[in-house]
Amino acid sequence: MNIEQLRTDTPGVEHVIHLNNAGAALMPNQVVNVMTGHLQLETRLGGYEAAGQSAVELDNVYNSIGRLINASPGEIAVIENATRAWDMAFYSLPLGPGDVVLTSSTEYAGNYIPYLQLKKLRGIDIRIIPNDEYGQVSLSSLQEMLRDDRVALVSLPVIATNGGPVQPIEEIGALARAAGVLFLLDACQAVGHIPIDVQKIGCHMLAATSRKYLRGPRGMGFLYVEKSLCRSLEPVFLDLHSASLQTPDTFEIRADARRFENWECNIAAKLGLGAAVDYALEQGIEPMWQRIQQMAHYLRSKLADTPGIILQDNGSTKSGIVTFTHQGSSAAQAQQWLAGQDKRINVTTSTVRSTMIDMQQRGLEEVIRASIHAYNTVTEIDATIEALVRMSRG
Ligand SMILES: Cc1ncc(COP(=O)(O)O)c(C=O)c1O
Repeated sequence: MNIEQLRTDTPGVEHVIHLNNAGAALMPNQVVNVMTGHLQLETRLGGYEAAGQSAVELDNVYNSIGRLINASPGEIAVIENATRAWDMAFYSLPLGPGDVVLTSSTEYAGNYIPYLQLKKLRGIDIRIIPNDEYGQVSLSSLQEMLRDDRVALVSLPVIATNGGPVQPIEEIGALARAAGVLFLLDACQAVGHIPIDVQKIGCHMLAATSRKYLRGPRGMGFLYVEKSLCRSLEPVFLDLHSASLQTPDTFEIRADARRFENWECNIAAKLGLGAAVDYALEQGIEPMWQRIQQMAHYLRSKLADTPGIILQDNGSTKSGIVTFTHQGSSAAQAQQWLAGQDKRINVTTSTVRSTMIDMQQRGLEEVIRASIHAYNTVTEIDATIEALVRMSRG
């Protein structure tokens, strides 16, 4: 892993200490160049004509995502963000009265609200899988809950928006498969962060975003739907891209996962997502994950020795998302302090509104979130700790 090269590729590191990679990471030049190149093409040729000229590159975006998660290109839909990608899968499932959705305490509010909506509209039931002693999904509890044949779906995030454990997704997938239950995985914080292999995990559907650990542009995401499920899952919304008119009275839905897409799309951003995936693959996901763990471990060990700081992460495998509270300051005050003119350290806050069940279980209203990527350095972490020490002194 050539950290200097990673940083040379990332002009943002000259301006900020960016520890908000779980919000939106700094894009490398390789991504920005592809996007601006396409915008130039649109400027010169026209939007449709530029897309036509980039047809091969656009098709390659699906190949790249397929390589990233070990899926075939026909199992990928490119959708404007992880939420819509997830929605397209979730709302398309034929869930009805009494069907049970199993989720984790770490579920993201953007997914939990749709569960509540289908509870209201279709009478589904939501059950939270208890955690084990490490604060991650208890596999024995899950196995027990899966005995109920009303369970129709297991759905949870690999890594929560407020940090915490990397869930044991391969074990969860194996249990869901054995029980014949669909498994929908929110990999929004996981792609580009940890190795993701849908064959090994055994998930049926997976949603992800571009701008976080993948370091792609904002306003882009993707959905994976396993081939054998794809044809039987009728998308909740259709248009003339996902389906085609056969006669004035009939239409046919596309066979592949692009049935979950819609026609109009930010082509430059789509190409940018492809470039981000290619860049991540070039660096190697496994070495980046090793580096992220190493740097996050360093940050946690330094925070543990910093007066006034209380670390808030749990899980036997911890991600690059490091969360903590400060005894004398609110999360927003800490964020503001770190962002100050002389420091320019980007962290963010995560509140009970984003992960209510988990935060309430742990008695937390908010945390400060410092999310590490492979391009972050010891020097940057030391500067962050120094700024926090100064904040504590007042
Ligand atoms: C765990 C998790 N799931 C889903 C999302 C939503 O992703 P997007 O904003 O791309 O729709 C987020 C965003 O923060 C997230 O952290």
